[in-house]
Amino acid sequence: EKDGYDWFMRKEIFEQPRAIGDGLLGRHDEAGQLQLDEVRISDDELREIDKIIIIGCGTANYAGMVAKYAIEHWTRIPCEVELAHEFRYRDPILTRNTLVVAISQSGETADTLMAIRHAVKQKARVLAICNTNGSTIPRESDAVIYTHAGPEIGVASTKGFSTQLVACYLLGLYLAQVRGNKFGDEIAAVVRELEKMPAHVQRVLDDSASVYELAQRFLGARSVLFLGRHAGFPVALEGALKLKELAYIHAEGFAAGELKHGPIALIEEGLPVFCIVPPRGRDQLHDKMISAIQEIRARGALTIVLAEEDDDEVVPYADVFIPLPTVPTLLQPLVATIPLQLFSCELATLMGHDVDQPRNLAKSVTVE
Ligand code: F6R
Repeated sequence: EKDGYDWFMRKEIFEQPRAIGDGLLGRHDEAGQLQLDEVRISDDELREIDKIIIIGCGTANYAGMVAKYAIEHWTRIPCEVELAHEFRYRDPILTRNTLVVAISQSGETADTLMAIRHAVKQKARVLAICNTNGSTIPRESDAVIYTHAGPEIGVASTKGFSTQLVACYLLGLYLAQVRGNKFGDEIAAVVRELEKMPAHVQRVLDDSASVYELAQRFLGARSVLFLGRHAGFPVALEGALKLKELAYIHAEGFAAGELKHGPIALIEEGLPVFCIVPPRGRDQLHDKMISAIQEIRARGALTIVLAEEDDDEVVPYADVFIPLPTVPTLLQPLVATIPLQLFSCELATLMGHDVDQPRNLAKSVTVE
């Protein structure tokens, strides 16, 4: 049932083009107008929403962080992201015009479940983004967007994450459509970009040979850092989490702008640092990221740079260059996460660890 793969995780990484495609299937008509039929909250109620709080744990929380960038940009609704266990116990301010979005692959995570029960009691509307049909979290929610990734067996989330991203994008675009923030053409343009993602992800997977060499090269590394900005920041956090979970190596993700406020003190000769470079565009994100890379490299870091394939500006500062397809900034996490998943899977394999069942971890955390 692993279809010839050594691990479920590796199989699930390679299933992502299909999973992302399934996550998009039947969600929009020819003109790009979205239809999310599992949303049992009326359009009138959605127009009244004045705050969104996205909750989840671990990888689901990182999907929520990406969602915040996209949903606020497209809808202009203030959006918070919080770990479900922190949200639950801080007495959050909720009204019937608050939309709580609970992200959970399994639909059974106790921390997230307790958090939505609290939200329901406070009369907030709850929408679940979930991969497991009929699980507890969607059953207790007002609405659900299923991610259609198919069963995820490897303990570390991979296709669960990428399809959560897709569902978050769809939710943001749907809210924008219902509220009239963006009209037909603009939504349709993003939908068209989303439709290209399965092919982009497939290309990243097909070109992954350099990631295997990288795992060989960093066998024995004691610490690895990940840097990103904007939507690339949660990707950095996710890359670090995968490495901790699977290879049991100390790893940390940082927002690149935060470096000079402390973390740059960690940089020393030979320290591997993954750098997720935002696509070139009209904003300054790309150039600021390049300055950050220059600074850490000047201090001896070994830079593994993930950037647009024709980004010549960054090449001189990359010890290793991992090319990514050109996609909109907000959608880049879908392609940028793939090499990081593969790297952790490969490194853990080389180290002789059980990739599908890392030590101390359970697939679904059903106790608080
Ligand atoms: C990371 C991982 C965990 C889960 C977290 C939430 O690879 O698998 O961090 O993402 O435990 O699980 P769900 O999404 O099932 O609520």
